[in-house]
Amino acid sequence: MTYSTLVDIMSQAHTRNMAQGITGILCYGSGQFLQALEGERAAVTALYHRIAGDRRHDDCQLISVDEIASRAFPEWTMKVVNWEDGDMARRRALLQADTGSDMFTPGTMTATQASAFLVHLAELERELSGD
Ligand SMILES: Cc1cc2nc3c(=O)[nH]c(=O)nc-3n(C[C@H](O)[C@H](O)[C@H](O)COP(=O)(O)O)c2cc1C
Repeated sequence: MTYSTLVDIMSQAHTRNMAQGITGILCYGSGQFLQALEGERAAVTALYHRIAGDRRHDDCQLISVDEIASRAFPEWTMKVVNWEDGDMARRRALLQADTGSDMFTPGTMTATQASAFLVHLAELERELSGD
Protein backbone atom coordinates (compact mmCIF):
# COMPACT_ATOMS: atom_id res chain seq x y z
CA MET A 1 0.00 0.00 0.00
CA THR A 2 1.26 3.46 -0.87
CA TYR A 3 1.24 6.37 1.54
CA SER A 4 -1.35 8.21 -0.59
CA THR A 5 -3.76 5.23 -0.42
CA LEU A 6 -3.32 5.26 3.34
CA VAL A 7 -4.08 8.99 3.49
CA ASP A 8 -7.33 8.32 1.55
CA ILE A 9 -8.32 5.56 3.97
CA MET A 10 -7.55 7.72 6.96
CA SER A 11 -9.69 10.66 5.85
CA GLN A 12 -12.74 8.48 6.54
CA ALA A 13 -11.12 6.85 9.56
CA HIS A 14 -10.84 10.12 11.51
CA THR A 15 -14.62 10.61 11.41
CA ARG A 16 -15.28 7.01 12.42
CA ASN A 17 -12.71 7.09 15.19
CA MET A 18 -14.13 10.28 16.62
CA ALA A 19 -17.63 8.77 16.65
CA GLN A 20 -16.28 5.68 18.45
CA GLY A 21 -14.06 7.55 20.91
CA ILE A 22 -10.91 6.03 19.39
CA THR A 23 -7.58 7.85 19.53
CA GLY A 24 -4.12 6.74 18.45
CA ILE A 25 -1.14 6.98 16.17
CA LEU A 26 -0.13 5.15 13.01
CA CYS A 27 3.39 5.11 11.62
CA TYR A 28 3.82 4.12 7.97
CA GLY A 29 7.13 3.19 6.37
CA SER A 30 8.17 1.04 3.38
CA GLY A 31 4.68 -0.44 3.07
CA GLN A 32 4.54 -1.43 6.74
CA PHE A 33 2.46 0.00 9.58
CA LEU A 34 2.67 0.26 13.33
CA GLN A 35 -0.58 1.50 14.86
CA ALA A 36 -1.82 2.13 18.40
CA LEU A 37 -5.57 2.19 19.06
CA GLU A 38 -6.94 3.62 22.32
CA GLY A 39 -10.52 3.57 23.52
CA GLU A 40 -13.22 1.45 25.12
CA ARG A 41 -12.50 -2.25 24.80
CA ALA A 42 -15.50 -3.04 22.62
CA ALA A 43 -14.76 -0.18 20.21
CA VAL A 44 -11.06 -1.04 19.95
CA THR A 45 -11.83 -4.73 19.41
CA ALA A 46 -14.36 -3.98 16.66
CA LEU A 47 -11.93 -1.65 14.91
CA TYR A 48 -9.07 -4.11 15.19
CA HIS A 49 -11.19 -6.76 13.47
CA ARG A 50 -12.14 -4.33 10.70
CA ILE A 51 -8.51 -3.40 10.08
CA ALA A 52 -7.32 -7.01 10.25
CA GLY A 53 -9.99 -8.00 7.72
CA ASP A 54 -9.18 -5.15 5.34
CA ARG A 55 -7.98 -6.82 2.15
CA ARG A 56 -5.88 -3.84 1.14
CA HIS A 57 -3.14 -5.14 3.41
CA ASP A 58 -2.04 -8.47 4.88
CA ASP A 59 -0.05 -10.08 7.69
CA CYS A 60 -1.72 -8.00 10.39
CA GLN A 61 -0.28 -8.85 13.81
CA LEU A 62 -1.50 -7.91 17.28
CA ILE A 63 1.54 -6.83 19.30
CA SER A 64 -0.11 -6.14 22.65
CA VAL A 65 -3.36 -5.31 24.42
CA ASP A 66 -3.19 -3.39 27.68
CA GLU A 67 -5.51 -1.77 30.14
CA ILE A 68 -4.49 1.89 30.44
CA ALA A 69 -5.15 4.48 33.14
CA SER A 70 -4.94 7.35 30.66
CA ARG A 71 -4.49 7.76 26.93
CA ALA A 72 -1.05 8.38 25.44
CA PHE A 73 -2.47 10.04 22.28
CA PRO A 74 -5.63 11.80 23.52
CA GLU A 75 -5.51 14.69 21.04
CA TRP A 76 -5.42 12.56 17.88
CA THR A 77 -8.33 10.66 16.30
CA MET A 78 -5.42 8.98 14.50
CA LYS A 79 -2.12 10.74 14.02
CA VAL A 80 -0.58 9.49 10.77
CA VAL A 81 3.21 9.69 10.52
CA ASN A 82 4.99 9.00 7.25
CA TRP A 83 8.24 7.54 8.55
CA GLU A 84 10.32 8.63 5.54
CA ASP A 85 9.11 12.23 5.61
CA GLY A 86 10.36 14.14 8.63
CA ASP A 87 13.37 14.78 10.86
CA MET A 88 15.11 11.48 10.02
CA ALA A 89 18.12 12.03 12.26
CA ARG A 90 16.00 12.40 15.38
CA ARG A 91 13.52 9.74 14.33
CA ARG A 92 16.27 7.20 13.69
CA ALA A 93 17.93 8.06 16.99
CA LEU A 94 14.76 7.39 18.95
CA LEU A 95 14.01 4.21 17.00
CA GLN A 96 17.57 3.03 17.69
CA ALA A 97 17.23 3.84 21.39
CA ASP A 98 13.86 2.09 21.73
CA THR A 99 14.38 -0.96 19.49
CA GLY A 100 18.14 -1.37 19.01
CA SER A 101 17.84 -0.77 15.25
CA ASP A 102 17.30 2.37 13.19
CA MET A 103 15.33 0.45 10.53
CA PHE A 104 11.53 0.75 10.75
CA THR A 105 10.55 -2.94 10.89
CA PRO A 106 7.48 -3.20 13.16
CA GLY A 107 7.23 -6.98 12.68
CA THR A 108 10.44 -7.48 14.66
CA MET A 109 9.56 -5.17 17.57
CA THR A 110 8.58 -6.50 20.97
CA ALA A 111 5.47 -5.06 22.60
CA THR A 112 7.59 -2.96 24.98
CA GLN A 113 9.72 -1.63 22.12
CA ALA A 114 6.69 -0.83 19.95
CA SER A 115 4.83 1.10 22.60
CA ALA A 116 7.92 3.02 23.77
CA PHE A 117 8.72 3.92 20.16
CA LEU A 118 5.20 5.23 19.45
CA VAL A 119 5.13 7.27 22.66
CA HIS A 120 8.51 8.84 21.85
CA LEU A 121 7.57 9.42 18.21
CA ALA A 122 4.43 11.22 19.42
CA GLU A 123 6.54 13.40 21.74
CA LEU A 124 8.79 14.32 18.82
CA GLU A 125 5.80 15.14 16.60
CA ARG A 126 4.30 17.34 19.32
CA GLU A 127 7.61 19.12 19.81
CA LEU A 128 8.11 19.76 16.08
CA SER A 129 4.55 20.93 15.55
CA GLY A 130 4.76 23.22 18.59
CA ASP A 131 1.85 21.45 20.37
C1 LIG B 1 -3.25 0.28 8.27
C2 LIG B 1 -4.70 0.62 8.34
C3 LIG B 1 -5.19 1.35 9.42
C4 LIG B 1 -6.53 1.68 9.52
N1 LIG B 1 -6.96 2.41 10.59
C5 LIG B 1 -8.27 2.71 10.70
C6 LIG B 1 -8.75 3.46 11.80
O1 LIG B 1 -8.02 3.90 12.69
N2 LIG B 1 -10.09 3.71 11.85
C7 LIG B 1 -10.97 3.27 10.89
O2 LIG B 1 -12.16 3.50 11.01
N3 LIG B 1 -10.52 2.59 9.82
C8 LIG B 1 -9.20 2.31 9.70
N4 LIG B 1 -8.75 1.61 8.61
C9 LIG B 1 -9.72 1.23 7.58
C10 LIG B 1 -10.47 -0.05 7.98
O3 LIG B 1 -9.65 -1.16 7.64
C11 LIG B 1 -11.81 -0.15 7.22
O4 LIG B 1 -11.59 -0.06 5.86
C12 LIG B 1 -12.76 0.96 7.62
O5 LIG B 1 -12.87 1.02 9.02
C13 LIG B 1 -14.13 0.75 6.99
O6 LIG B 1 -14.64 -0.48 7.41
P1 LIG B 1 -15.86 -1.17 6.64
O7 LIG B 1 -15.43 -1.26 5.20
O8 LIG B 1 -16.01 -2.52 7.29
O9 LIG B 1 -17.03 -0.29 6.82
C14 LIG B 1 -7.41 1.27 8.50
C15 LIG B 1 -6.93 0.53 7.42
C16 LIG B 1 -5.59 0.22 7.33
C17 LIG B 1 -5.10 -0.57 6.15
